[in-house]
Amino acid sequence: MDTRKLGPFAVSSLGLGCMNLSHAYGTPPSPEQGERVLLAALDAGVTLFDTASLYGFGANETLVGRVLKPHRDRFTLASKGGLAGVKGDDGTVRRVIDGRPEAILRNCEDSLRRLQTEVIDLYYLHRWDKKVPIEDSVGAMSRLVEQGKVRTLGLSEVSANTIRKAHAVHAITAVQTEYSLWTRNPEIAVLDACRELGITFVAFSPVARGFLCDALPDVTTLEAKDIRKSMPRFEPANYAGNLKLLPGYKALAREAGCTPAQLALAWLLHQGQDIIPIPGTTSVAHLQEDLAAADVKLDAGLLARLDADINQQTVQGNRYSAQARSEVDTEEF
Ligand SMILES: NC(=O)c1ccc[n+]([C@@H]2O[C@H](COP(=O)([O-])OP(=O)(O)OC[C@H]3O[C@@H](n4cnc5c(N)ncnc54)[C@H](OP(=O)(O)O)[C@@H]3O)[C@@H](O)[C@H]2O)c1
Repeated sequence: MDTRKLGPFAVSSLGLGCMNLSHAYGTPPSPEQGERVLLAALDAGVTLFDTASLYGFGANETLVGRVLKPHRDRFTLASKGGLAGVKGDDGTVRRVIDGRPEAILRNCEDSLRRLQTEVIDLYYLHRWDKKVPIEDSVGAMSRLVEQGKVRTLGLSEVSANTIRKAHAVHAITAVQTEYSLWTRNPEIAVLDACRELGITFVAFSPVARGFLCDALPDVTTLEAKDIRKSMPRFEPANYAGNLKLLPGYKALAREAGCTPAQLALAWLLHQGQDIIPIPGTTSVAHLQEDLAAADVKLDAGLLARLDADINQQTVQGNRYSAQARSEVDTEEF
C-alpha cells in the first residue's frame, strides 16, 4: 500500500480503526476473531493502528497490546486519553470526559501498561473537556512527550479555533474527526486549519458506520447496545430516507469498478494526500475489501457526481444525538 505522512511517520494510506473489535456496534467479536483481524491487517501492510482508553473500557488496548506486541517495530501506534471508563461507587463503569492534567497523565500510564509498550507514537486528546482550558490539557500531553512516553500529539473532534490554540502550546501532528461523504463538517474550517498548520487529518467512521457499505438495510434489527441506535441518521424514519440514496451510489461504485465501501474510502483518499481514513471492521473479508480501496482511481467527473449525490443536504438526520453533540467542539452543519 502507498504511504502517507503522519508527522515524523510514513504510514499506510489506510489505517485500521481497532475500536470495533471491543466496542460500539453491538456484541463485539471474540478475542480470537479480534486477533485474526489485527494480524490480517498487519500482513496486508497496514502500519497505522488506532485504539483508545475508552474502547471496551481498556479491553481494546489490552487486545492490541497482546496481539501486536511481538510486531511493535512494524507499525505506528495511536491511542487516546481524556475520555475513559470510570468505575462508580455502585461498581458500574461509565464514560467520563476528564481533561484535567492529572487525569490525562493517569490515562496515559494505564494505556502504556495495557498496550505493553514503552511509548505511544501518537497520543490524542479524545475529547476536549470544555471545563479545562485546552492549553492545560495539551500542556499535560506535552509533558508526556518530554518524558518519552508518547512521541507526537493529536486532537479529536475539535474546532479550527481549538486546533490553533493547542498548536500554539505544542505541535499537533494529527486531528482525528468524523469525515465521509455523509459527514462533511471538517470541510467547514478544520481541514483548512490543518493544512495551514501542516497537520495530518485522520478520518474516522469513513464508511459511514456501515451505511456506505450497503450492509445495513434494516436498522430495527440493531442490538440495543449498538451506538447507531442513538444516532438520528439511523432512526428508522431518517434511515428510510437515507436508503433512497443507495441505488444511485451503488451505480457509481459499479461505474468506478469497485464496491460501495471501497468507493467511500477512495473518495476520502482523493480529498488530499494529507487525509488518512481509518475504517473499522470485525471481519477479515471486509478488511481486505476496504484495503483494496487504496488502488481505486476516481476521475474528476465521478468525484463531482459523488459530491453532489451524498452530502449534508441530501442526508437526513444529525450524525450525533444532542448529548453526543454537546461533547464535541467541531463546527457542525
Ligand atoms: N475519535 C473518535 O471519537 C472516534 C469515533 C468513532 C470511531 N473512531 C475510530 O474510527 C474507526 C472507524 O470508525 P467506525 O468503526 O465508527 O466507522 P466505519 O469504519 O465507517 O464503519 C464501521 C462499520 O462498517 C462496517 N464495514 C466496514 N467495512 C465494511 C465492508 N467492506 N463491508 C460491509 N461492512 C463494512 C463494519 O461492520 P463489520 O464489522 O461487519 O465489517 C462496521 O459496522 C474506529 O474503529 C475507531 O478507531 C474514532
